[in-house]
Amino acid sequence: MRWYNGHFVLLAILNYVIKITMRVCSIIGYKGESLAAPLLVTCLQKMEYRGYDSVGIATIADGKVSVKKGVGRVEDVNSSLLLGRLPGRIGIGHTRWATHGKVTEKNAHPHTSCNGEIAVVHNGIIQNYSELKSGLLMKGHIFKSETDSEVIAHLLEEDYVHTGDLRVAMRNTSKKLAGAFSFIAAFSDGTIAGARYDEPLILGISNDGYYISSDVVGFLNYTDRAIFLDNRDIVILQGSEMEMINFDGAPVLRPTTQVAWEFGGIDKGTYAHFTIKEINEQVETITKSGRGQEKSIKQVSEVLKSAPFVYFTGSGTSYHCALVAKNLLTKYGKRKSDAIMSSEFQYLVNDIEPDSVIVAISQSGETADVLEVVKKAKPLGTKIISIVNVPTSSLARLSDVSVHMNCGAEIGVAATKSFTSQLTLLYAIIDEMSGGLIGLEEQRYKLQNAVRELIEGQSMIEHIVDEIKDVKDIYVLGRSIHYPIALEGALKIKELSYVHAEGIPAGELKHGPLALIDRNSCILVLNPNDSTFEDVNANAHEIKARGASLIGVGNSPSDVYDQFITIPEVDEILYPLLEVIPFQLIAYYLALVKNANPDYPRNLAKSVTVK
Ligand code: AGP
Repeated sequence: MRWYNGHFVLLAILNYVIKITMRVCSIIGYKGESLAAPLLVTCLQKMEYRGYDSVGIATIADGKVSVKKGVGRVEDVNSSLLLGRLPGRIGIGHTRWATHGKVTEKNAHPHTSCNGEIAVVHNGIIQNYSELKSGLLMKGHIFKSETDSEVIAHLLEEDYVHTGDLRVAMRNTSKKLAGAFSFIAAFSDGTIAGARYDEPLILGISNDGYYISSDVVGFLNYTDRAIFLDNRDIVILQGSEMEMINFDGAPVLRPTTQVAWEFGGIDKGTYAHFTIKEINEQVETITKSGRGQEKSIKQVSEVLKSAPFVYFTGSGTSYHCALVAKNLLTKYGKRKSDAIMSSEFQYLVNDIEPDSVIVAISQSGETADVLEVVKKAKPLGTKIISIVNVPTSSLARLSDVSVHMNCGAEIGVAATKSFTSQLTLLYAIIDEMSGGLIGLEEQRYKLQNAVRELIEGQSMIEHIVDEIKDVKDIYVLGRSIHYPIALEGALKIKELSYVHAEGIPAGELKHGPLALIDRNSCILVLNPNDSTFEDVNANAHEIKARGASLIGVGNSPSDVYDQFITIPEVDEILYPLLEVIPFQLIAYYLALVKNANPDYPRNLAKSVTVK
């Protein structure tokens, strides 16, 4: 198949399973008519949202492999090292998330073979790398980094030197690697080859060449025609030919898919950051959530109605949503349930009743802890329902029924609009189960106006941020259905602004945390007008007596609070959807005051695909 004559294997199978994931490292390769380096820089920038600490590019020109790499953001490393000026129309690039070895220039990819004729970029973890490395060291290979990935370059070299056949080298090397990986190798003869096993790898076909990437977003600027490689697939771009084989050398044919979908619209627009754009988008996304999903919502509600026990599970923000869902299901669905964070549930799941139902919640649908729970539960016969934002994700594909959050791509590492969308979906499901007791539909319009009002009140939030910008510890209190929002509010503050924040069930204050409260503490209190009001108000007074500064969130401002954020009136059961928004805004503006980049918090990745 040639890239320049337009003869593509255009097996446009519309319902083909597109797998778009947000992994930690990003890899990209290009071979075509354009200069590779500037394209690769742009592609890597498009994938920045996945999180990384260093960056590098290798290109091939006149039979020579040139490599440049460094620690920091693509833009900064590019301005200091001029990555985009590397010569040639063939190249590979990488943004690294350190797993094996520190964040250093040496550990940044691409890694090269001893003879410098092969450069490699890798995403994933090579579990047997130390064993492979020992073997290679004994054969005289010299390693320049502490990474697991470098073994790939030396293994390829070993096989290529012995067989003179890069197909054999790609196959043998891939078969020797244990773990989850996708890698791209650039050879000095101008060939680029990629292989995958349990990490995504996608071929992009444009009018002037081919791209190979860990993420469609990497090349979506240049083409929307893609081939999704399967496990054990190898793609080889040699001369002007594209060839696909499997690890055993047999030819494989995969359909070409058109991937023009919502990820194409990834752009900050007029906003300074994706995070604030996504917070603002909630005016629309909360309204949209569940619309057009009526059939799956009904289906899920039927499954839950007949379930003897329901487990809600998720990680981080999605776990907080699980906690709210459990509360709603008990109250309105009248079903027994529990919410267990996936990183803990995986050790228990083998012992649950097989006729239980698991509701797995995940924005990405790729979180390793969640997938682990589901993979362990499925063989037991447990029904799996998922709530995801990527309908083609691994979690969606493993589920019996999956409901789509439909809130568009979320690029900011901190979950904002995905939280309110997943929550709205769960309200819709439990409302359906209860025969409309929650009355979500009737309140959509009111809810939308309330979200708008909260978002428009950003100047009040900026004022509060100014007051609290120097505090070292923030505590967020709430009771009942508001406790998960206290956890979520604290999570937003710590991940975006790096200020220590803790969500505490207000009723537990006297059982320990009160010991921490003094004049230097800052406490945010979820104190809306519902059954929790009086008890929380009493807690606020206890705190006040210890001299701490108090910020209330609710509908009845009171003297006990130094500041008060008013939540617009909606039915009290819907408060959690609104209460979280001021916390998202506080976290965002606190990050700005502290000069932290809210879109890419340090040490965090958008999707945590390793345990
Ligand atoms: C949220 O702000 C976090 N970045 C994180 O806790 C996230 O919610 C968690 O990793 C789960 O991700 P998922 O929803 O994609 O499974």
